[in-house]
Amino acid sequence: MQIVRTISQLNNLINAVKKEGKTVGFVPTMGYLHEGHISLVEEAKKHDDFIVMSIFVNPLQFGPNEDFELYPRDLKRDEKLAKMANVDVIFYPDVQEMYQKDLTCTVHVQKGVNALCGKSRPGHFDGVATVVLKLFNIVQPTRAYFGMKDAQQVAVIENLIADFNVPVQLMKCKTLREEDGLARSSRNVYLTNVERQQAPEIYRSLKQAVENIEAGEKSTSKLKEEMISHLSLTTTGEVDYVEILSYPSLDEISAIEGQVIIAIALKFSKARLIDNVTITV
Ligand code: PAJ
Repeated sequence: MQIVRTISQLNNLINAVKKEGKTVGFVPTMGYLHEGHISLVEEAKKHDDFIVMSIFVNPLQFGPNEDFELYPRDLKRDEKLAKMANVDVIFYPDVQEMYQKDLTCTVHVQKGVNALCGKSRPGHFDGVATVVLKLFNIVQPTRAYFGMKDAQQVAVIENLIADFNVPVQLMKCKTLREEDGLARSSRNVYLTNVERQQAPEIYRSLKQAVENIEAGEKSTSKLKEEMISHLSLTTTGEVDYVEILSYPSLDEISAIEGQVIIAIALKFSKARLIDNVTITV
């Protein structure tokens, strides 16, 4: 496995790989890898010959009061995990390499950002879309693998690919969880012991909502009320949002119909956790 820090070096490598007729699978990450990231690599290995993983903590997608500086970083550990997962190349640029001069253009996401994380993190998805478009152009992958853990991100990337005619196939991968249901996340390390014990209530609450829907409940406001009261009774976290929306358009709905996303963001003392499930009725 190679670690490549410059765009030109990566271009040379990818050109050589493509000349051999191999397909390129791309797994973009911000590092501090866990099994969730690795599950994307495993999926990529099923479809593609050559696997590129990027590790880049993208300053553009963090707000002024967010955790860019605090975001966990550990290349040595990431290197080991990526190697074990048979990643072929880690693309590991620094901020200077990715943003050599101030950008003259950025991507502004117009649709699907007034809900969920877009609402509480203004500008976040502009930063995500901008870096992902750059990464797509740099890596030129055949397929790109994204986790449904970040379902709104998947919806934004799907639209980005269509809007800018990016020649890449988007692969949506399911959320990997701990045994107790907590979605794997790089931010889980910031939970206190007590918070870690409470955190599985997020997924429990989502599953309860699914059960209620399957039992015939249609009212999104009733379902949301129940989830909010479940979370405030069982955790010390502060509810950032509990939403039930159409998916992938992310429009508000009052009654459950078609494909919907049920999503939660809960703020603990040092970590804001998100999770979601999608269900088709
Ligand atoms: P990051 O948070 O590192 O996540 C990288 C990828 O791993 C994303 O596609 C995310 O959905 C996926 N992922 C995270 N936890 C997962 C889990 N428990 N199960 C399955 N997949 C999981 O998302 C980003 O980085 C950035 O926004 C990025 C796309 C790299 C742009 O900077």
